[in-house]
Amino acid sequence: MPAPQLPPYDHQPKPYSGPSLEEVLALRKQVLNPGLLTYYQQPLMIVEGSMQYVYDEKGRRYLDAFAGVVSISVGHGHPYVLQKAREQLELLPYLPTLYLHPQISEYGRLLAEKMPGDLKVCHFVNSGSEANELALLMARLYTGNYEIIALRNAYHGNSASTMGLTAHSTWKYNTPHSFGVHHAQAPYPYRGLWGPEDPEAGANYAADIKSLIDYATPGRVAGFFAESIQGVGGAVVYPDGYLERAYVHVRQAGGLCIADEVQTGFGRTGTHFWGFETQGVLPDIVTMAKGIGNGIPLAAVVTRPEIARVLAERIHFNTFGGNPFCCAIGKAVLEVIEREGLQRNCLEQGEYLLDGLKKLASRHSLIGEVRGKGLMIGVELVRDLKTKEPASEECARVFERVKELGVLIGKGGFFGNVLRIKPPMCLTRPDVDFLIEVLDLALKEV
Ligand SMILES: Cc1ncc(COP(=O)(O)O)c(C=O)c1O
Repeated sequence: MPAPQLPPYDHQPKPYSGPSLEEVLALRKQVLNPGLLTYYQQPLMIVEGSMQYVYDEKGRRYLDAFAGVVSISVGHGHPYVLQKAREQLELLPYLPTLYLHPQISEYGRLLAEKMPGDLKVCHFVNSGSEANELALLMARLYTGNYEIIALRNAYHGNSASTMGLTAHSTWKYNTPHSFGVHHAQAPYPYRGLWGPEDPEAGANYAADIKSLIDYATPGRVAGFFAESIQGVGGAVVYPDGYLERAYVHVRQAGGLCIADEVQTGFGRTGTHFWGFETQGVLPDIVTMAKGIGNGIPLAAVVTRPEIARVLAERIHFNTFGGNPFCCAIGKAVLEVIEREGLQRNCLEQGEYLLDGLKKLASRHSLIGEVRGKGLMIGVELVRDLKTKEPASEECARVFERVKELGVLIGKGGFFGNVLRIKPPMCLTRPDVDFLIEVLDLALKEV
């Protein structure tokens, strides 16, 4: 079978004249954090990007179906975003919030317009971890309660408190953390107690939250954190009605409901702008990062005015949060999503991709489940469809082979057996055809 061909694309990468891959790798090992993970047996060096594609130092083009861990929303080097970034960079990139600047309030207005209900007050920070830290602080201050419910298989960050919210041993250092945090059962129909066909699955998984509140807390909680689809955990989509029931239990115990939209926000799920809307709920606090800035350090927390007011008990300052440069980019990203109909594109390409992946599942017994919404997709690989033994090594081989064939995807799930497909939202139909052909070949070969 001939190797699948990338769709034609009219972009000439600039010739690369920097240090070699070997030199970069050696220096990285010498001077950088040894905890850094490098994807691929032969690490990949990427030196340029254009929309849904990236280029290595030799000028080879890859389809980026992972978007730098879901951080490139509208496309690498999107021309409009670049133009707005350049304009602000030349004028005044940095200003603390001690002074007035139109960019931050204008961006706050635009972002708030995208939110349902009374979620109208924005706080700008620099990363998803910071956003979740701030949401945690506000929930505790507002409710006067301390205990937090999060979900097993969740990822919410790696700062001291958010490491506590995160629930994978791989990301939790062996230090004291997680004070007051309790992890409920992951609403993971493929692996959990209640399967995808069970109409009561949502209510049953949510009942575990009630049980945790009753048995593990004083009966009062500050809040409940949930990604709208679990990202690092392997694109786990909750059963219908899960968040609705969960929110009832949490609110009955005095808690706020916090939606982590770091991966699922900004139209990626296709049918809705925010992932939580796919579950029909209205959170009290929403955190967002990654795609919000198309790859720059920008993140936000949006909540209701009365909750936001708790921060006025003290002075709240963040050196880089809400600087004019990041806000100019955030605004441009919102404009591009709207103008280019990227939410609709996520829906169309996502449905087409899910359909293609399900067809692959009927031919490759390694595929246990294909799941996702829009362009937030997971393909869980198992050795045996009955026992669901995780096919972790096979997944690693598919992942490597897919890269050799010209596609970058992610790998996740607790067992490292889920292929994660979360490309820039500008993915085209020919890209999807190429991606399916590549996966088909790679699955055949392992
Ligand atoms: C759902 C979710 N929340 C929070 C975070 C933390 O974001 P950051 O790495 O920007 O701190 C991540 C990062 O992967 C994430 O996937």
